[in-house]
Amino acid sequence: MTNNAVVLAGGQGKRMKTNAPKVLLKVVGEPMLEWVLSACENAGIGDICVVKGFEGEQIDGYISARQSKAEITAVMQQERLGTGHAVMQAADFLRSHSEGNTLVLCGDAPFIDEETIRNALELHIKNGSAVTVVTSKLRDPFGYGRIIRTENGISGIVEHKDCTPEQLAINEVNSGCYWFRTADLLDVLFDIKPNNAQGEYYLTDCIELLIAGGKRADAFVSENPDVALGANDRRGLLMLNDIARRNIIEKHLDDGIEFTCTDGVSIGRSVKIGAGTVIHSGVVLRGNTVIGENCDIGENCLIENTSVGNGVRLNSVQAYDSVIEDDVKIGPFVQLRPDSHIKKGAKIGDFVEIKNSTIGEYTSVSHLTYIGDSDVGANVNFGCGVVTVNYNGDKKFRTVIGDNAFIGCNTNLVAPVKVGNGAYTAAGSTITSDVPDNALAIERGSAVIKEGYAEKKLRSRTEKFLRLHGDNK
Ligand code: UD1
Ligand code: CA
Repeated sequence: MTNNAVVLAGGQGKRMKTNAPKVLLKVVGEPMLEWVLSACENAGIGDICVVKGFEGEQIDGYISARQSKAEITAVMQQERLGTGHAVMQAADFLRSHSEGNTLVLCGDAPFIDEETIRNALELHIKNGSAVTVVTSKLRDPFGYGRIIRTENGISGIVEHKDCTPEQLAINEVNSGCYWFRTADLLDVLFDIKPNNAQGEYYLTDCIELLIAGGKRADAFVSENPDVALGANDRRGLLMLNDIARRNIIEKHLDDGIEFTCTDGVSIGRSVKIGAGTVIHSGVVLRGNTVIGENCDIGENCLIENTSVGNGVRLNSVQAYDSVIEDDVKIGPFVQLRPDSHIKKGAKIGDFVEIKNSTIGEYTSVSHLTYIGDSDVGANVNFGCGVVTVNYNGDKKFRTVIGDNAFIGCNTNLVAPVKVGNGAYTAAGSTITSDVPDNALAIERGSAVIKEGYAEKKLRSRTEKFLRLHGDNK
């Protein structure tokens, strides 16, 4: 028996005022569709059909760029005539899976989770139901379809706009996620009619048709209070972001992470953080970032796809696709561009940019320095204002610096160039040729001193001033 899913993703989200399909709008850095697809995959669903509509090519692009565990296809819904009509577009997909159960869910309700999907299927199979609706009890059920319970399952779902005053008081709502026996769904899908307040083909009308055909319909109340939540406008999207952000922070709190303040803190779902680490305000952690134990991630750090060791201290650092080893200290105001590798115990100070470079153990780059395309050894000291000149406007070249080297202030290292182990460069030098181990390289003009020059200069300036303004100042 194969389980499969149909994700409804045709909506435009007019009130979002965007040219993107609504399901590609992001919650904590990931499109809502991604949340839904990954929940399906994590619940073990192997085949997924996405019903696209508005700006469908963007959905295709997203799916093909994605590393998917499941087999994902997309079908087009040319006109948006309702959730039932959307599922009709997937009829061929359903027919090819008619032996199993189909999960139908909304691409714009990102908080569906794998336990809910699994547990609802378990109930669905145990009760031999034709359909099992995932529901949620909400304090404010406004806008959602209401669940009509009977002694023996449910008798239907009534849309908010079609509710009687008594039905409006029901707080158990349709999350928009359902398990159907696929063959049963196909039996009734094309019999639903758009005779309701919105003139749409309601998928929910399948329930009454199934019951009329002698089948059983049931509801599974999810333990996840957010399972039904979706967004219709930017305010709603911000609310989803706030909920997700808070939920993620709660998990890290349970894992022993300290937050001095959660203002502006946003942590991606996949980020891992070790116990004893302190996160300060304004910290944004994205992608596959991993942070070790007992780190101090200071105010306003933005860390993306970066691995950070134990005991690391960062302060106002931006880091992308990089590796930072144990006991490193970086900041403030430092950028690590992709493929930077900062080895154990190194210290990177203010206004330093590093790109595609390795910085050896215990090396110190304290201030105002650019290191690009370089291999820097251990225990090197950089003076203030060093620049690796890695680009001639056409090609990029590497700089290699040996262990224990000392790079004087304001050195330009014109790549390709090599500074040997223990070698020194004199402050202000522009180094254009390799420096042997333990040598000192001085590559700068020699001083020219003109005795009394300034005195003469001052005299002529004073005379000019008196000519123009007289001596009354
Ligand atoms: C639907 C349910 C309602 C439930 C709510 C949960 C129906 C009739 N009602 O209502 O009971 O409480 O979801 O959020 O199903 N879509 C398409 N094509 C369409 C119409 C919709 O792809 O023609 C997609 C939307 O992009 C969205 C999902 O289906 O992802 C739900 O559609 P929406 O119009 O938001 O349904 P609701 O009216 O909210
Ligand atoms: Ca909706």
